[in-house]
Amino acid sequence: MTGPARFTLPARLLHWSMAVLILAMLPIGAAMVTSLGDYHALVSLHRPLGVLILALALLRLAYRRRHPPPPLPADLPRWQRRAAHASHLALYGLMLALPLVGWAMLSAARYPVALVGPLVLPPILPGNPMLHAGLRVLHTVLAYALAATVLAHLGAALLHGLIRQDGVFASMAPWRPRA
Ligand code: HEM
Ligand code: HEM
Repeated sequence: MTGPARFTLPARLLHWSMAVLILAMLPIGAAMVTSLGDYHALVSLHRPLGVLILALALLRLAYRRRHPPPPLPADLPRWQRRAAHASHLALYGLMLALPLVGWAMLSAARYPVALVGPLVLPPILPGNPMLHAGLRVLHTVLAYALAATVLAHLGAALLHGLIRQDGVFASMAPWRPRA
């Protein structure tokens, strides 16, 4: 097949499965802290999915070191190239930080980080109510930052796919792009 260089199949599978997980986690988190659903059912889904996101993000970064992404188009303005790199860095940082802060805040609250069945993660911080309160606020702030960065990312993806039509969207598209 000719056409633009694409992310490898494992990179695309990781991108899209993590996108689905993250797009589910933001409203699950929001529903937990409002009266929109059963708090205990939602939080017991939120913890293992969040830890899964942490594990997949680490796997994805390790894979990316061995399989670097395809280059951006040479004619892409410098500020857009910089914005792309900065936003991808922010997305990776937030994919790691949010679950770690979630885990840390429950540890500081001396609350067990139960995943599935008998699987319980050990605490990563000592019990400390002030620390818990600070991390709880940080978890919300980071979740808002992630939502905003994902929205900007979506906008950029649509700009590439619909307006510039420069192969960037096709490089991550789950389907095979037309030549
Ligand atoms: C990418 C991963 C994650 C995302 C996107 C995410 C997102 C959110 C959001 C949007 C909220 C609601 C915040 C608010 O409006 O105040 C929330 C709350 C919460 N998150 Fe996460 N979270 C993630 C990972 C985790 C992990 C791994 C844990 C625990 C191991 C966790 C534990 C919690 C808890 C306990 C609350 C609610 C606390 C309360 O009842 O006040 N989160 N999360
Ligand atoms: C929660 C949702 C999402 C997250 C966290 C996310 C995250 C990322 C990250 C971190 C990259 C950089 C890949 C790398 O260089 O290793 C990326 C690339 C990309 N994503 Fe997403 N993504 C999400 C949703 C979407 C959606 C909905 C679309 C399309 C509508 C999309 C389209 C793309 C495209 C086209 C690229 C390639 C950009 C490039 O080569 O510079 N993403 N995404």
